[in-house]
Amino acid sequence: MFSKQTLSALVGAVALASARTIPASDKLPSAEEIAKAQATVVPYSPVSNVKGLAFDRFAQIWIENTDYQTTANNIDFATLAKEGILLTNYFATTHPSQPNYLASAAGDNFGLDNDDFQQQPANISSIADLFDTKHIAWGQYQEDLPYAGYQGYLYPETGPHEYVRKHDPLILLNSVTDDDTRPRQIKNFSTFYEDLEHERIPQYMFITPNMTNDAHDSDINVAGSWLADFLPPLLKNEYFSKDTLILVTFDETGNYTEANRVYSFLVGGAVPQHLKGTWDDTFYTHYSIIASLSANWGLPLLGRWDCGANLLKLVAEKTGFVNWQVDYDQLYLNETYPGPQSEGEYSEELDRWPVPTTSEKCTAGHGIVDIVKKTYEGREPTYNYTSPIPYDSVSGTNTGIKYWRTLQNGKKETGITL
Ligand SMILES: *[C@@H]1O[C@H](CO)[C@@H](O)[C@H](O)[C@H]1NC(C)=O
Ligand SMILES: *[C@@H]1O[C@H](CO)[C@@H](O)[C@H](O)[C@H]1NC(C)=O
Ligand SMILES: *[C@@H]1O[C@H](CO)[C@@H](O)[C@H](O)[C@H]1NC(C)=O
Ligand SMILES: *[C@@H]1O[C@H](CO)[C@@H](O)[C@H](O)[C@H]1NC(C)=O
Ligand SMILES: *[C@@H]1O[C@H](CO)[C@@H](O)[C@H](O)[C@H]1NC(C)=O
Ligand SMILES: *[C@@H]1O[C@H](CO)[C@@H](O)[C@H](O)[C@H]1NC(C)=O
Repeated sequence: MFSKQTLSALVGAVALASARTIPASDKLPSAEEIAKAQATVVPYSPVSNVKGLAFDRFAQIWIENTDYQTTANNIDFATLAKEGILLTNYFATTHPSQPNYLASAAGDNFGLDNDDFQQQPANISSIADLFDTKHIAWGQYQEDLPYAGYQGYLYPETGPHEYVRKHDPLILLNSVTDDDTRPRQIKNFSTFYEDLEHERIPQYMFITPNMTNDAHDSDINVAGSWLADFLPPLLKNEYFSKDTLILVTFDETGNYTEANRVYSFLVGGAVPQHLKGTWDDTFYTHYSIIASLSANWGLPLLGRWDCGANLLKLVAEKTGFVNWQVDYDQLYLNETYPGPQSEGEYSEELDRWPVPTTSEKCTAGHGIVDIVKKTYEGREPTYNYTSPIPYDSVSGTNTGIKYWRTLQNGKKETGITL
C-alpha cells in the first residue's frame, strides 16, 4: 500500500542518516508525495465502549507555553474552568515542548531537551499498547495535519506554521509509526468533525490546535477565543460529552525559571454536578493522566513515571488510592535529566535508554503491560519509577523534594527524592 511505502521510505531515510539530530529539511516530504498521500490514505476511526470507573471517554486538549497566572487572568479560560474543576497544582514535566508531549504518550521523556526531529526506538511502548490490551479505541486530532499519519517535521513547509511534529505525541514513537493502522488513527480536525458527525469518536483522544490557536505563535487571548469557539459546542453535544472527561492543560509554562505549574481544568459530562465550579489542589503531572486512564479502565502501565504518579481525584476516590502530597518549596519540574535524546540544550547526552520497572503494581494497581515485561524483565529499572515525582539521583534533577500521605487507617508515609 502506498501509505506504508511512504512511511517506510521516511523511516529508512532516518535510519540512513544515523546522526541524532537530523536537519528538519530532510524530514519534509515533497508536495507531490503529500498530495498523493492525501488522495489515498484512509483515516482509521475505530470505536469501542468499555465502561470506566469515573468516565467512559477522555479527551485532552493542549495549549502552549503560558504561565499559570497569565492564563488565570484570561476571561475565556477562567469562564470555561468554572464549568468544571480547576486543578491548581498540575505540573508539566520539563522544558521545552516536545519532551512534554512525549511524556504524555510514553511515560518518560528519555532526556529529550529539544524540539528537533526525534524518533523513539520500537522497544519504547506507549499508551497505544495500554489501550490495545482492552481494545479501547484511541485517536489523536492534530489541527492542519495534511493527512492521517503524516510524519513530516511540520506542515506547510512555508508560511505560518500550522502543524508541527513536536506537538504530536504518538507520532514520535516507532512502536506507533512502524504499525500498519496506528498512524492512521492520528488525524486532523476535518476528520474530527466527520468522526463526530458519524458518532465514531474514540474513547481516548489527544487534541492539538494549530500553532496559532494553541498560543505558540500568538498569545493566550487568541487561544482563549479559539477554545471558547471549540469547546462549548462539544460540551453541549450529548453524544460527545456524556460520561466524558475533558482535560484542558498546557504543555509547559512560558517562564523556564519558575515552577512548571500549568493552568488546567476538567470539564465534561463525567464531572459530577456538585463539583462544577470547584477546585482541586492535588499534585498532578502529565504522568498522572496515564496513571488515571489505567485506574479508570483497569489497564496495565508502562512502568515508567506513570507508575508512581498520583491519580485524578475523581478516579482515586473510586479505587481508594490515597494521593501523595508534596512540598512545593523547591519543586520546579523545569529540567530534563541526561538521556539518549538530550542534545546539550538543557541537559547532557547519555547514551543509554532507560529501563522501566516490570515488577510493580503501581498507583493504578494493575501492574505493567506484557510487552514491556517481555522486553525488559530481569533488568534493573534505571530510575525509582514508584516515586510520585520524577527525579534522577545521578544528575540531581528534581532531588530533595519531600512527599507524604496519610492512609485511611491513620498510618503516615513519607518519602524524599534523593
Ligand atoms: C532498545 O532499543 C535501543 C535502541 O535501539 C537499544 O539501545 C536498547 O538496547 C534496546 N533495549 C532492549 C532492552 O532491548
Ligand atoms: C485531513 O485529513 C484527510 C484524511 O487524511 C485529508 O484527506 C484532508 O486533505 C486533510 N485536510 C486538511 C485540511 O489538510
Ligand atoms: C489555524 O486554524 C484556524 C482555524 O481553526 C485557521 O483559520 C488558520 O488559518 C490556521 N492556521 C494558522 C497559521 O493560523
Ligand atoms: C521569570 O521568573 C523569574 C523568577 O520568578 C522572574 O525574575 C522573571 O522576571 C520572570 N521572567 C519573565 C519574562 O516573566
Ligand atoms: C529551573 O528553575 C531554577 C530555579 O529558578 C533555575 O535555576 C534553572 O535555571 C531553571 N532551569 C531552566 C532550564 O531554565
Ligand atoms: C522509591 O520510591 C518509593 C515510593 O515513594 C520509596 O518508598 C522508596 O524508598 C524509593 N526508593 C529509593 C531507593 O529511593
